[in-house]
Order: sequence, then structure tokens, then C-alpha cells
Amino acid sequence: MKIKTAIIPVAGKGTRMLPATKEIPKELIPIIDKPMIQYVIEEAVESGIENIIFVTSPGKHQILDYFSRNAGLEKFLEDAGKPEVANQVRKLGEMINVSSIIQKEQLGLGHAILCARKLVTDEAFAVLLGDDLVFGNPPVTKQLIDIYSNKGSPVIGVMDVPAQDVNKYGIVLGPKLDDRTLKIEKMVEKPSVGSVNSTLATPGRYILTKNIFSYLENLNKGAGGEYQLTDAINAMAKDCEFLAYQFLGERFDTGNIESYVDSFIGIGLHREDTRAMFTKILKKYKL
Ligand code: G1P
Repeated sequence: MKIKTAIIPVAGKGTRMLPATKEIPKELIPIIDKPMIQYVIEEAVESGIENIIFVTSPGKHQILDYFSRNAGLEKFLEDAGKPEVANQVRKLGEMINVSSIIQKEQLGLGHAILCARKLVTDEAFAVLLGDDLVFGNPPVTKQLIDIYSNKGSPVIGVMDVPAQDVNKYGIVLGPKLDDRTLKIEKMVEKPSVGSVNSTLATPGRYILTKNIFSYLENLNKGAGGEYQLTDAINAMAKDCEFLAYQFLGERFDTGNIESYVDSFIGIGLHREDTRAMFTKILKKYKL
């Protein structure tokens, strides 16, 4: 049961990152030398994904351009005697097959995933949200694909969060099947602090099967007045086995300016190729 396709919703306006996002899609804002979305695509590619479906909105074509070939730039770099840089640029255009669909109205994550329905031909597919960058070895999406391959059930990645933060996430409840795996009994989107007996939250990594679409179609508006993927998972988990897996890895949030700055430094220290540079710079500020 190979999973080759991933849906990546990128339709958001990035208002929490204004003014930086006035003309640049949030997903293309860099962390060190790469746009945030490239870390997510690299996770997908290293997990065996070959096709990406971007759920996008008008004005975000630069994301598609970024993962397309740019023959003019490649030639310019070749002619300028920079074949290695030309090669880097070429690789970006070749790393993944990209398709896209426009989400005309921003009605929530559940609605965004439903928009991609016509482009999904495989029985199961991955969903990766770009606000959270997760690094694992194997990559977190690959860890989930392995669970799906072994157990044949849809699965979402979860992590333990502080109890006062449960209102920022989709929270999973259910009995443990082993050290890291749970059977989802209930999933709640952004519950109020103290109202749920769990601190297992998803940072937006899912392996879903096609039948999720019929649950998405029948959703009522949920938290924040939006159609929530969490509510569709909650409904589906009542009819069939739906798992949650406490993945192994490090997670960085880029949802707002403070977490973005935190992640910039955290990822700089996490990446082997930039660690020494970041350590040197941070020492300079004698913190
Ligand atoms: C979305 C999901 C939520 C998940 C979160 C991870 O919420 O609805 O279940 O935990 O992403 O970042 P958002 O942060 O987009 O409001």
C-alpha cells in the first residue's frame, strides 16, 4: 500500500505574518536558505511522496512557480559559470509533480481538503500542514506511512503538548494500543483548557483514506465557524479504526512572528550544516 500523493493546503492569507506576507505567500518566507514550504516538500519527498496537490488561493501562484523549472534562470547561471547553483535550481523544478486547485472561499481546513477530492485518485494519501515543520529520522510522514502499511488504518501524527496549549490544536483521545499508538475514540478541535483529558495534539500530519471525503461533505461548521478536518476524523473514527501515532521527531511552529523567530533559531541549531554558524552567532550576543 504505497502512498504517493500528498495534499498540502496553502490557501491561507498569512495575516499573522503581515506585513511580510502582503506580497509574498507566507509559505515562501525563508528559514535560513529555504522557503518554509520547501522543508515540508522535502519531508514528503523523503517519505516517498511523488505527487503534491496544493490547495491554493488566487495570488499564490509563486508557490507553484517555485517548484517548476525556470529554464531562463538555469541558462543564466550556466552561462555565468555557476553550474552547481544551476543544478540546485533545476532540482527544485524536478523534485515533485505538482498540481493545484483553488479554494475559492476560506471555509476551513476540512473544506480545503474536500476541494482536492477530484484530484485524488489513490485509495490513501497524506496531508501535511505547512505551519508546523517536523524533523524525524525517518521523516514523520514516513513513520505514519509505515503504520498505515502495517495496520491498514488511517493514522494521524500526534505529540504531547503542555496542558495550557490544548486550545491551539486538534486533540486526540482514546485507548493506547502500544507505547506510541492509540485508537482514536474522539478528536476535538481546539478544546478549551481543562475540558479534555488528553494532551496529545496533531501538528498537521495525516494519512487519510478516500472515505474521509464523504465525512467532509457532511460536516457542519465547527470550531471558529469553519469546516474542520478534525470533526470529519472524529466522525469517521466512530465507524472504522482510526489511529494516532506519537511520532519520533522534533517539531517547530511557524504560525506567528514569535514562533517563526523561535523556529528560525531552532532549525538553525537543528540542521547539521548550519549548527556551527548559529552557535557562533548566538555566542556573539552573549545570551
Ligand atoms: C490546524 C488544525 C489543527 C492542528 C493544527 C496544527 O489548525 O485544524 O487540528 O492541530 O492545524 O498546526 P490551525 O493552526 O490551522 O488553526
